[in-house]
Amino acid sequence: MIAKVNYKDHSFEVEIDPNKSLLESLVESGYYFRAPCGGRGVCGKCRAKLIQSSDFQQTDSNGDILLCKTKPKGDIEIELYKNDFVDFDFVVDEYKDYATLSLDIGTTTLAFSLLNRDNEEIASVNLSNPQSFAGADVLSRISYCKGGGLKKLQTVLLNTIKRVVFELKDKISGLRINLLRVCGNTVMTHIFVGTDPSNIGVYPFTPVFLDRREYKGEFFGLEVDKVVVLPCVSAYIGSDVLSGIIATKLYCDECAVLIDLGTNGEIVLKVKDKYFFTSTSAGPAFECGKISCGTSYVDGAINRVERIGEFYIGKTISDKSPVGLCATGLISLLSKLLVDKIIDKTGKICDKGRGVKEGKFYLTPEVYINQSDVREFQLAKSAILSALRVLTSKAGISFSSIEKVYIAGGLGKYLSVEDLFITNTFPKEFHGRCVSVGNSALKGACLLDDNPLIVKSILDNSVVYDLSIEEEFDKIFIDNLNF
Ligand code: FES
Repeated sequence: MIAKVNYKDHSFEVEIDPNKSLLESLVESGYYFRAPCGGRGVCGKCRAKLIQSSDFQQTDSNGDILLCKTKPKGDIEIELYKNDFVDFDFVVDEYKDYATLSLDIGTTTLAFSLLNRDNEEIASVNLSNPQSFAGADVLSRISYCKGGGLKKLQTVLLNTIKRVVFELKDKISGLRINLLRVCGNTVMTHIFVGTDPSNIGVYPFTPVFLDRREYKGEFFGLEVDKVVVLPCVSAYIGSDVLSGIIATKLYCDECAVLIDLGTNGEIVLKVKDKYFFTSTSAGPAFECGKISCGTSYVDGAINRVERIGEFYIGKTISDKSPVGLCATGLISLLSKLLVDKIIDKTGKICDKGRGVKEGKFYLTPEVYINQSDVREFQLAKSAILSALRVLTSKAGISFSSIEKVYIAGGLGKYLSVEDLFITNTFPKEFHGRCVSVGNSALKGACLLDDNPLIVKSILDNSVVYDLSIEEEFDKIFIDNLNF
């Protein structure tokens, strides 16, 4: 079964699965779409014109369908509206010189930043990683590769990057991209270059490569001159962390920690000249993956919750109608509900109270959290706090010795650090020491290649702890689940 998709002045064909929505089939083929409501049929952003269909499809009065609500049982042809693919956070109209594109491949989110010759950002966008159909974390992606799915995961990733390059060239007159710099966790960089990451999933967790790699753009079918894949530290510590160390200048600190709050929560603790690394499977809650009404940082995402009298008010990005909760909105909402005891210390949503109905808390008639959303967040926050406990104990220091705490990840500018204390994600000793640095991986990616001596000194003085073989970790993890 085939979907023919017309877009601007070209068209493409995609194989579709009758058990999946058209949106899912397109995304799994690497055709990225904005789906701010996560495919719940609420935001209307996946609207497309129905040209023809071999079976009946319900359309609205304009002859449009919602891709997330359409499951064709036969061939179908649709036409996309102009801005259906990529919604840039920021983009200039014209750039006549060569530019470089940095890409941080996160397990849940792909973050792109286009830089001019002075390393100033001229366009940026965050997209969902289209590989999420193969599971939310790196271990699921590894098993998918083991089952023969490596080519598919690489293809959907490359198709999404091609789409972004296409859109950038379409929007920025005169643009030429001479270099794509790629950083990410080690599994993601393996998949990007088409190398099987299976051995990373089994003891002794051996990656095929960790070193810097350089390719011609055409090797990947990308319209860029050169592609550089930045070096990683170990099987579970990627180039994103190394880039983060460069961006934050952690190497200048006496005793500090960099915490990347992502699906693969990576932490590096610097004490004197030594670097103590670990990573922990936090799950996608810090990026609002696997959250019922989760969304990314799109217009209409609730990024903060305020309590006014007895009402909870969700503040949205660009003041648009709410389409879902982004990660800072989720943490903000949980904090308010914990303070007001609508969620108790164990994470249970109470039976009664304003907004509570059938085990869910409704922030708006369409945006809610349920018990499994709260549990998902508890797993994420316990993973981070427990990893911090193990790492400080290995380094022989206490939390109070840490002078600076860099918080990296997509939470960025909307994060209220206080919420991390209320939700017991961070220990109270970190009060007054936190700096939110946003996507430090992207910021550091452009500097990493220019600082080989610093990189060498970090790698020569690093020790990596694998939490899966740390006996104390499981016990600490369970102890930290409560709020
Ligand atoms: S993704 Fe289809 S309506 Fe929101």
